[in-house]
Amino acid sequence: MLELGVCYYPEQWPEEMWADDARKMVSLGLSWVRIAEFTWSLVEPAEGEFNWEWLDRAVDTLGQAGLQVVMCTPTAAPPKWLIDKHPEILPVDENGNVRKFGARRHYCFSSKIYREHAVRIATDFASRYGENEYVCAWQIDNEYGDHNTIYSYSNSAHLAFQDWLRNRYQTIDKLNEAWGTCFWGMAYRSFNQIELPNNLVEEPSPTHLLDFYRFSSDQVVGFNKAQVDVLRDLSPGRPITHNFMGHNTDFDHYAVGQDIDFASWDSYPMGALVYSGMDEDEKAERLRTGIPDQPAFNNDLYRQVGRGNVWIMEQQPGPVNWAKHNQSPQDGMVRLWTWLAFAHGVDVVCYFRWRQSKFAQEQFHAGLLLPNNEPDQAFIEVTQVAHEIAKLPEVGARQQAQVALVLDYPSRWAADALPQGEDYSSSRVAMDWYAALSRQHIDVDIVGPHSDLDGYKLVVVPDMIVDDHDFVDKLEKCAAKVYLGARTGSKSKDMHIPAHLPPGSFSRLLDVKVTRVESLPPYGRDRVKIGDLLGKVTNWREQIVTGDKVLATFQSDFRDGSPALVGSEKCWYGATHFSAELLDALVTKLVGWAGVAASSKTSSNLRITRRGNLMFAFNFANQAAQLDVPKNTQFFVGGHELAPYDVAIWSA
Ligand code: GAL
Repeated sequence: MLELGVCYYPEQWPEEMWADDARKMVSLGLSWVRIAEFTWSLVEPAEGEFNWEWLDRAVDTLGQAGLQVVMCTPTAAPPKWLIDKHPEILPVDENGNVRKFGARRHYCFSSKIYREHAVRIATDFASRYGENEYVCAWQIDNEYGDHNTIYSYSNSAHLAFQDWLRNRYQTIDKLNEAWGTCFWGMAYRSFNQIELPNNLVEEPSPTHLLDFYRFSSDQVVGFNKAQVDVLRDLSPGRPITHNFMGHNTDFDHYAVGQDIDFASWDSYPMGALVYSGMDEDEKAERLRTGIPDQPAFNNDLYRQVGRGNVWIMEQQPGPVNWAKHNQSPQDGMVRLWTWLAFAHGVDVVCYFRWRQSKFAQEQFHAGLLLPNNEPDQAFIEVTQVAHEIAKLPEVGARQQAQVALVLDYPSRWAADALPQGEDYSSSRVAMDWYAALSRQHIDVDIVGPHSDLDGYKLVVVPDMIVDDHDFVDKLEKCAAKVYLGARTGSKSKDMHIPAHLPPGSFSRLLDVKVTRVESLPPYGRDRVKIGDLLGKVTNWREQIVTGDKVLATFQSDFRDGSPALVGSEKCWYGATHFSAELLDALVTKLVGWAGVAASSKTSSNLRITRRGNLMFAFNFANQAAQLDVPKNTQFFVGGHELAPYDVAIWSA
């Protein structure tokens, strides 16, 4: 059953408050508390001088009250003495400026000195708390990638990148060929000559960039794994996680996920809305609910990253402090997001943070309690969730969906390395597909090229740019029908155009060849007709040659009537990015073709999903919604009519 927890900072409050805080957490219904991710300088104020006693007492106080502690390794915040001793730990930004001490995440993943110190402090933490009876799980570091910290252009990164390239290519000739250095006379004679791809006069070779992104991702995986090894050794049996940021795709989350026991992610739907690519009218409509499918998508993604095991480590409890604007969620949304997470397979939801801070950077960030210790709105909603949990029957893990949606990290990097249009966004393309499926109440699993495809009826590949022969084999062999979006298979692993033109190996699934691509501005007027519906297309349009069936065509003053959607027995290919209304029509057709059960109507504000034998409905609208279920349905939470921002749970 769903468990709840909270992020707590004993170091920020007088010790006299800790016992009362712990008691209140337990009486609220919380069973987990995450601590210590920024405490290195408090535990080790000077090199080799330790001050553990306060943290020992905090762990004891929380544990003795009945809470399970998630202990963090504190490597997201290296102390000042360490930076003063080894300034080369600091990361360097794209302009070549050193990013200084004074906040957090001020380290370069390629710094060998920092790696040694990180492993050393993780060892100290694990030696002290690895077998502590109250420490029941570990979080490594905090939010890799926060504030653009995956890419660093330091001297350490430079040398490590050269080594990485030596290892990948073995000979400089192979690198020259892959990067296409004959193009602008950029040939190298040795790996020592290679620069990082920043501060150039014009753009670097896309292969240079893609390799830098791959390298940077590998640095994160290595950094994380070094701490995993320590914790496995000194804290046997305690599961290990990292708290990912859903929107940061600068490193391969699946690869980090392979080394940990469960994935967790930090859910801030209000900020996600503000920074999304939606237009202002849509944003206004969703201002205080966020995008319904953004948290759902990430719950599903991190369920995959955690190989079935997923938590929310930080759930927004009210306004935050860090976005362009920081609006309050509607009253009720914290409860809604909590149940939404559980419905999508999340096992534990922890709220960020226990009490709003009176000082420092995040004073405007809400908590469960106000700074004066009175309950804030989220406290009231969590109280309600805790009561509702008690009413639910046991429910197992979330079942496999009928539809899989592919998210491939190297393809995200490839889109970035050679964008072709300034507003093309792979994450938007994936989210638009996910949302269209969700509007018809179709459950989706997010999968990667490494995933097993058995059991799916439909696999949607929105834009897997980097061709992958082995993945195409899997698609060919599985029983699922396949949808390929524009740009799929359009680059080889070396970022070249495939020998027989895009979609490269994917053309084994249907007879398609892409002969021209265009990026389209938002004011473009190209249209596509699907069934009776004539709708807009955005961002991207391809000219394709096909021997297969044409299912829809472009309507435009340019090459009017050229194919926009084509299909074989096994696979359909869409030569553009469809607007939401066209996607709705396309999803209806696709799921009908693939034999996937779906709702006959689309709904913009109601989401319905299943976990085991429980059904869940979520109303994101500011008006009541009616559920179309039999009169005698047994509800555990809510009923046939959902108030605005309300939740209903019933037996399937
Ligand atoms: C997260 C971070 C937390 C806190 C929070 C505020 O990105 O992990 O430490 O800063 O944002 O919303």
